[in-house]
Amino acid sequence: MAQQAVTEERSFMVEPGGTLHGRFRVPGDKSVSHRAVMLGSLAEGETRVSGFLEGADALATVATFRALGVEIEGPAHGRVRIRGVGLHGLRPPEETLYLGNSGTSMRLLSGLLAGQSFDSVLTGDSSLSRRPMKRVTEPLALMGARIDTGEGGTAPLSIRGGQPLHGIRYDMPVASAQVKSCLLLAGLFATGETWVREPAPTRDHTERMLAGFGYPVLRENGWVGVAGGGRLQGGDIDVPADISSATFFMLGATIAAGSEIILEHVGVNPTRTGVLDILSLMGADIELRNRREVGGEPVADMRIHSCGLRGITIPRHLVPLAIDEFPAIFIAAACAEGTTVLSGAEELRVKESDRIAVMAEGLQALGVDAQPTYDGMVIRGGKLRGGTVDSHGDHRIAMAFAMAALRADGPVRIERCANVETSFPGFAELSAAHGLGIRQEAAE
Ligand code: S3P
Repeated sequence: MAQQAVTEERSFMVEPGGTLHGRFRVPGDKSVSHRAVMLGSLAEGETRVSGFLEGADALATVATFRALGVEIEGPAHGRVRIRGVGLHGLRPPEETLYLGNSGTSMRLLSGLLAGQSFDSVLTGDSSLSRRPMKRVTEPLALMGARIDTGEGGTAPLSIRGGQPLHGIRYDMPVASAQVKSCLLLAGLFATGETWVREPAPTRDHTERMLAGFGYPVLRENGWVGVAGGGRLQGGDIDVPADISSATFFMLGATIAAGSEIILEHVGVNPTRTGVLDILSLMGADIELRNRREVGGEPVADMRIHSCGLRGITIPRHLVPLAIDEFPAIFIAAACAEGTTVLSGAEELRVKESDRIAVMAEGLQALGVDAQPTYDGMVIRGGKLRGGTVDSHGDHRIAMAFAMAALRADGPVRIERCANVETSFPGFAELSAAHGLGIRQEAAE
């Protein structure tokens, strides 16, 4: 398959100060968009998706299912139409399946493809090729799968088809929705029941969407499971705006005095709202209005007023519920009065970048007292100066530092920002339209 890496590197130049204002909607939820394509492809009948995230990660999943023989129209204006082929209707891909920067695609697909009759090979960009895959290949091997990894348990993943899978009970060593979802997807193709238990709750979009497609999800004393051999029935999916993308605006509107914004139709699934709890503990003024449910997922509009923040010790149970939001939370901590302490978050070291090391380096470049620890960070709030930050190609780090400029005393330049396209296409344009002094430059 043609490589769809985000290749044209660019930087953000952000003027200091300013306020955020207006009422708007950020792009669709990345986790829900991936799952809509995966389950829609495996379902019987048509699945029509609206609010789909047209970012490079979700597009890598679309391209993969096309390569597996599924007819998919779109996305166009957030609409995707998938002609499901049923649980046993995928066709062998002609080429390697290239997943770009997308860990969710690789980990969930490894489970789904382990249960097929044909071989497949999964690859990714340099960041994805460094990320740990043994966390999925080891439990899949217990189910009977045969998957070879590269040296050190990383991609490429070579998946041998035609291996009969059988259900297992797996006590997960890490709190990871990707591992849980991978095993549940493999369980659809296994004999018997496949059960997983997480050490702490993680996002439950897979379970909700399986149930929405009519597939029974089993629950018992903290375990979640599926029995193989059922059927999925396609239907309509309305993807809420991504709370992880909304977070950058929650941060910006909170730290920039005089700001007020309303974010529309944001997904507020309780397994994703750790950021609301953490920012509220820090004193943020975020109000949820018009709570409703769309397609099995709770959504709300959010009104955010600027307000002073205080440093806190972040409660450990909130870590998996806010796992993607720490780049933004670290910037909030840098703007708060007092010290913020995070621990129990070693997973941040194996995200799109080592988010503990890269955030500490960027904060220090802006004059902030940020001390990395092996599983977190200690940040003393204070003044931010202008400067240059290397995002290391990590989309969420680039967007978090763009918002930091609202409180800096000089311009902030952020390098290697092209991967913002993976989760938030149009971030620079949308944030500029609502008050951020941001422009993009092609990298020299
Ligand atoms: C995701 C799960 C999380 C998250 C990622 C998306 C998902 O990863 O960081 O951005 O869609 O299942 P882990 O499950 O590895 O923590």
